[in-house]
Amino acid sequence: MRDEGRTGLGPGILRFPSTISIREVGPRDGLQNEDPLPIEDRVRLIDALSGTGLRRIEVGAFVHPDAIPAMSGSEEVLARIRRMPDVSYSALVPNVRGMERALVAEVDEVEVVVSASDTHNRKNVRRSTDESLSGIVEILELAGAAGIPVEGVVATAFGCPYEGDVDPSRVAHIASFLLAAGCSGVAFGDTTGMATPTRIQAVLDAFDVESPGELPRERVTMHLHNTRGTGLANLLWSVLQGVTRFDSSVGGLGGCPYAPGATGNIVTEDAVHMLQDMGIDCGVDLDRLLACARLAETLVGRTLPSQVLRAGPRLPPGQPPGWIQTSQR
Ligand code: COA
Ligand code: ZN
Repeated sequence: MRDEGRTGLGPGILRFPSTISIREVGPRDGLQNEDPLPIEDRVRLIDALSGTGLRRIEVGAFVHPDAIPAMSGSEEVLARIRRMPDVSYSALVPNVRGMERALVAEVDEVEVVVSASDTHNRKNVRRSTDESLSGIVEILELAGAAGIPVEGVVATAFGCPYEGDVDPSRVAHIASFLLAAGCSGVAFGDTTGMATPTRIQAVLDAFDVESPGELPRERVTMHLHNTRGTGLANLLWSVLQGVTRFDSSVGGLGGCPYAPGATGNIVTEDAVHMLQDMGIDCGVDLDRLLACARLAETLVGRTLPSQVLRAGPRLPPGQPPGWIQTSQR
């Protein structure tokens, strides 16, 4: 059923957007937690992902090589990938030095990360949350001069493995600071999979209280991890709240080296498979994406958490997913 560009189940019951934008973060969030792969393997995975229809890929991180050995050589990765004109290649930066490296490597966008939990921020980037926020102003100046959009990622937005619950108003305050400082958008990071739909709602509500009307949902990304199996439920809840931008990782690669027990992001192919069947276009060719997930498994040498890769799509190959009209259900 279509209504003002949206699809839904039943008249006025559920409203879904007609499109969702997925940023593939497997080559960064996924691989940062693995034994370092050779540059050529990272390039191979990214080039395969570039051919799936995904429009945004986070390809690496300009962090200290001792902090995350698997991300060293991100310059070389960017230099060697085959850049498709309709794909935006981004990287994570933790500080000004990282931003300088990202500019030399000619990234299209950057993600700058700060944790809402002070303890996690100190473990991650060796400074307080406030110190990171001060540094972000300089990062934004450098990026602005080069015309590079910067997304502010608020990590541990739904809970911290060291501090426990994180006050949603603190998360909202940081997000508000990032937007006011000039970030093109904000991502709320469920770094260790502590989110549930009510906690997602609490953060969105807190932001609406902090800065009424200033967080258009188009500027929000949800960066979800499936550590406790709540990933797709959180995605669906976010969609119902108007969020249309999500991070996910092919095969379910992923984790956070400074967050004990953190596992992969939500699985790109599981999310795309579900969304396509709901009539929501992600612009992605599921068969090609599954081939990438298979490649990711081969490269890291282990079985990944992807469920659609194991079970296959709900319809036989060749039948476009979502072919049953929602109105026939
Ligand atoms: N890339 C490469 N080198 C960097 C760097 C960067 N982004 N930032 C700092 N350095 C170098 C400095 O040039 C300096 O080198 P020198 O000793 O030869 O002069 C050295 O590292 C120390 O600089 P300092 O500013 O004191 O950094 P630090 O040791 O406090 O480390 C970070 C801070 C942010 C660089 C480091 O903690 C880090 O890379 N963390 C990333 C964590 C991460 O990626 N987590 C997962 C994603 S959420
Ligand atoms: Zn993550």
